[in-house]
Amino acid sequence: MNTSDIRAALITGGSGGIGKAVAERLAADGYAVAVHYSGNKDKAEAVAAAITDEGGRAIAVGGDVADEAAMTAAFTTAESAFGGLDVIVNAAGIMILSPIATADLADVDRMHRTNIRGTFVVCKLAANRVRPGGAIINVSTSVTRTKLPSYGAYAASKAAVEGLGLILARELRGRDITVNTVAPGPTATPLFLEGKSEELIDQLASMNPMERLGTPEDIAETVAFLAGPARWVNGQTIFANGGMA
Ligand SMILES: NC(=O)c1ccc[n+]([C@@H]2O[C@H](COP(=O)([O-])OP(=O)(O)OC[C@H]3O[C@@H](n4cnc5c(N)ncnc54)[C@H](OP(=O)(O)O)[C@@H]3O)[C@@H](O)[C@H]2O)c1
Repeated sequence: MNTSDIRAALITGGSGGIGKAVAERLAADGYAVAVHYSGNKDKAEAVAAAITDEGGRAIAVGGDVADEAAMTAAFTTAESAFGGLDVIVNAAGIMILSPIATADLADVDRMHRTNIRGTFVVCKLAANRVRPGGAIINVSTSVTRTKLPSYGAYAASKAAVEGLGLILARELRGRDITVNTVAPGPTATPLFLEGKSEELIDQLASMNPMERLGTPEDIAETVAFLAGPARWVNGQTIFANGGMA
């Protein structure tokens, strides 16, 4: 098979919980995958090695998502390895919780730099480089609907992410590239679990009628749908949360 016949994906935050599951799912669906990391190179390399061991094609690529030069290099490395890119999944993100009244603005700036500027940088590169037939998938959160106290700065950053989707989809008119956003509910990853009591986790898990936390694989399934079969879903935000909101 010619390298240009292979569908290829770059997954930012591939070293994290949801990004890892997305990389594994897309690899299982036949994609060559670039597993992106920022600080945890070892985790991304382990994800890529496990995919390669299973007979798939995967590499690890690094870079701060908010750094245009670093992400340009990451895209170039992935394109050189696979012959081009068809799917970009923006799973990199951070969450720092605080009531608005007592928020540390340095934390707010850091979170917004990663979640807003980072998503923007990756969308900008994707808009210039994704091949026809491709898909760009950003990641928001169901907190943009549930509006829980202490999530103000985080929800604001993800509302900005949701704001990009339909606009970018329209800007890509005629290119046959879809742009969608997935908004997970509470999902069992370090980002969600760290710093929360068992009681709070149980409370949040019971907010949906399925009465459980989402798994990274639940989110990966939605991403895989948007990445491939869902050609008529464009510019939408899909809430993947078991019916929480
Ligand atoms: N888990 C949930 O309940 C939940 C719910 C709704 C939405 N989300 C969203 O889903 C996405 C993935 O979350 P997760 O639960 O998988 O979190 P996670 O396990 O903490 O993973 C976060 C990922 O983001 C990467 N990252 C952080 N800052 C970065 C930066 N400046 N540049 C590049 N990469 C950076 C991390 O890379 P390194 O580790 O290599 O530094 C890691 O791969 C996030 O956007 C999050 O907001 C999560």
